Amino acid sequence: MSTLVAETDRRQELVRRLAAATRGTSLYSPAHPMMQRSIANLMALCTETLQNRDHVTIGFLGDDVVVDDAKLSNAAASLVGFVRHLRDRQVEKIRFARGLKADELRAFITELAAAPGTRPLDSRLAARGVRNVTVGQITVTDNDPAIGIAAAQRLYRAALDMAESLWDAAKAGEKPDPAVARKIIDSLAGTISHDRSALMALTALKKYDNYTFTHMVNVSVLAMALARSLNIDGPLLREFGFAALMHDIGKVQTPSEILTKVDMLTKEEFDVMKRHVVDGAHILRKTPEMPALAPVVAFEHHLKQDLSGYPENIGHRQLNLGTMIVSIADVYDALRSNRVYREGLSSDRVRSIMQQQTSPAFNQKLLRRFVNLIGLFPIGTLVRLSTHEVAVVVREHPLDPFRPQVKIVLDRGGDPLENPVLVNTWDRDDRGEHPYAVLEAVDPDTVTIDPLAFLQDDEPEPASKS
Ligand SMILES: [Fe+2]
Ligand SMILES: [Fe+2]
Repeated sequence: MSTLVAETDRRQELVRRLAAATRGTSLYSPAHPMMQRSIANLMALCTETLQNRDHVTIGFLGDDVVVDDAKLSNAAASLVGFVRHLRDRQVEKIRFARGLKADELRAFITELAAAPGTRPLDSRLAARGVRNVTVGQITVTDNDPAIGIAAAQRLYRAALDMAESLWDAAKAGEKPDPAVARKIIDSLAGTISHDRSALMALTALKKYDNYTFTHMVNVSVLAMALARSLNIDGPLLREFGFAALMHDIGKVQTPSEILTKVDMLTKEEFDVMKRHVVDGAHILRKTPEMPALAPVVAFEHHLKQDLSGYPENIGHRQLNLGTMIVSIADVYDALRSNRVYREGLSSDRVRSIMQQQTSPAFNQKLLRRFVNLIGLFPIGTLVRLSTHEVAVVVREHPLDPFRPQVKIVLDRGGDPLENPVLVNTWDRDDRGEHPYAVLEAVDPDTVTIDPLAFLQDDEPEPASKS
């Protein structure tokens, strides 16, 4: 985990040195020793950063600074001047590529520090032969081969069927067939690697009414998405997906009166409920070909970082990484889903609840990463705009979770639009303001439209810049 910390520090430091060099250049001559040192410091860090990657991208959006896909915390306050400097030059993104030379970096800093001229910065850089630093505005790209929402939906339904058959087998006291599960997990894992958004959008739906099976599939998808974001791939990724799918299998032995009880459980009933972790581990351990991780995760998934939770009195142990990932996906999905005893919460509400549960509930680094991954308004979320229209999030902004691309589907009066309008909420008008801003998530159950229906058509390009 310490590499994550080092990585964050390095990102902060890179932006800090870039800002310092730019500020210095507008104050001192290039030959000034202070400037020489400042550029050399920046160059050293760029070289180090580019040692194991092809490029590093720094994005500036509103007051936020994002390096690669991670937002810097507390960056805004100390960098306000620098961010404004860039905004005046219409620079939203700076990318350093491997092969960067000190001369290029010096030329770049000089041009960046200069007063905004009539010629755009990118063409001035090109004229000076700077190849390994590029600047530009942020665009939403679709590099990944998207499998599309319809294919994701088919896969999701197949996964639900598979979850049901595993559940039924376990309930009947038979051994769940890992071969069935493995096939579906393989497809889900492949999709997570290629078109995460479509599948994640499906997990956000509350329309499927069978919580047991949707929960199994959702936790599996969300856990694999989180694992994938940690660069876990291949057999290990599948193992996490498998363990996540089966985490609650012990509930086949929990009486259904307890599982579906509307009122709060009594102490005795809760004690019965708690047994699902031990029962689950037991079932999975007996199942041939089940990955070894599955019973471990089933046993541990209600334990917190400080080993409170249940099962109780288990002595000292280190929670498995798989458990830490699955428990975040588990709580997120449980809070977001409709249950007999309460309505599901919107993803932004769930996110803030999970963040308030500070240590020791979840591993904080993993939670932060998960929150980044989910975004504020995941694809398929219904949102209310500052114009009081209701829209469906159709695409996330690569850097700014607050400003997705949306399709307006209901007018201010709540009536459906005949032709939904595609809008980039990050676009500014002539006065430099955002005409559309997302105010909040809207509970899909309070409106009569199905957000998924608006993800299915072929997207016309929005009229504004993209
Ligand atoms: Fe559970
Ligand atoms: Fe669960």
